[in-house]
Amino acid sequence: MSAKRITQMRKQVSAENLDGLIVTDVNAVRYLTGFTGSSGLLFISTGKAHFFTDSRYTIQARKQVKGAKIHQAKGPLYEALADIPGIRTKNLLYGFDGEVVTVAERKRLQGILPEAQLVAADSLMASLGWVKEKEEIESIKKAVEISDIAFERILNLVAPGVRERELAAELEYQMIMLGSEKRAFETIVASGFRSAMPHGVASPKRVKKGEFVTFDFGATVDGYVSDITRTVVVGKATARQKKVYDIVLRSQKAGIRKVKAGVSGVAVDAVCRNIIKKAGYGKNFGHGTGHGIGFLVHTGPRVSPLSKDKLKPNNVITVEPGIYIDGWGGVRIEDDVVVTRSGGKVLNKAEKKLLEL
Ligand code: GLY
Ligand code: MN
Ligand code: MN
Repeated sequence: MSAKRITQMRKQVSAENLDGLIVTDVNAVRYLTGFTGSSGLLFISTGKAHFFTDSRYTIQARKQVKGAKIHQAKGPLYEALADIPGIRTKNLLYGFDGEVVTVAERKRLQGILPEAQLVAADSLMASLGWVKEKEEIESIKKAVEISDIAFERILNLVAPGVRERELAAELEYQMIMLGSEKRAFETIVASGFRSAMPHGVASPKRVKKGEFVTFDFGATVDGYVSDITRTVVVGKATARQKKVYDIVLRSQKAGIRKVKAGVSGVAVDAVCRNIIKKAGYGKNFGHGTGHGIGFLVHTGPRVSPLSKDKLKPNNVITVEPGIYIDGWGGVRIEDDVVVTRSGGKVLNKAEKKLLEL
């Protein structure tokens, strides 16, 4: 990767009047440097950037990391920070990510940099990577396409007697065969009463005739994930199943229509939630409507009643309302959506009308 993101961050470090920024979160390090290993620490000062890893990853780091001097640490990466000339000068102000650095880590860091003032640099770190570059959106699009096709390919296996876990295995196999690096998160296949559990990861339960089956899964391409949910019925749907499904679908489509740069996460959530509330199922929709996706399946901006975020062009978010009725079942429908100035662009092509299989 080019050094562009490090250069941009260096400008922000200066603009915030910091003398340096310490980046420890593996995903933030990856975003800024392109380093895909599990052990990396980045220090960006106003003049230079330093990247620390251990001996397992130095060859990889030399290939992947541009725009930072690469150091091989002999012990904990934090401790190697002390090797940077001038880092222990008196009265310097260093930022760190207050959301990820633990109290114990902060203490250790202060021990290594005793003269420094350490501050949580939330304004620099909080929304890192939320606005996607063109290539990032291309990777997400590929991940979405893989999940869409994998879903189509496993539909013929959905029949009474098959285990949820077998369907999850087939989905994951198909995604890998289509080019996914790995599943994006633990695959959810929740049938019958289990479909009332929003995060019912695939179990040994066998699917029965007449049940809803909710699939929530994703692929990974270049580290970027997709996150899709579809709910189907095994056999013929009952009138109640059709009714609940239709409410969720109307809610999801209305939410997508509301997506546009400048609109708040609260506003998109409210559109989805109000439709479900008006239909009498407000209490059966407990989670937020959506979230940003990227390296992580859950990032910002958030789309929920508690969100403080406003949508920006090239955010990629999910819209995923649901209705969950304990003892009966549930429905969720989830698409991945690119935010633009003129609206939301849905990436998924998988069928959304109720499939009776
Ligand atoms: N699979 C988790 C989610 O949809 O947020
Ligand atoms: Mn999902
Ligand atoms: Mn999601």
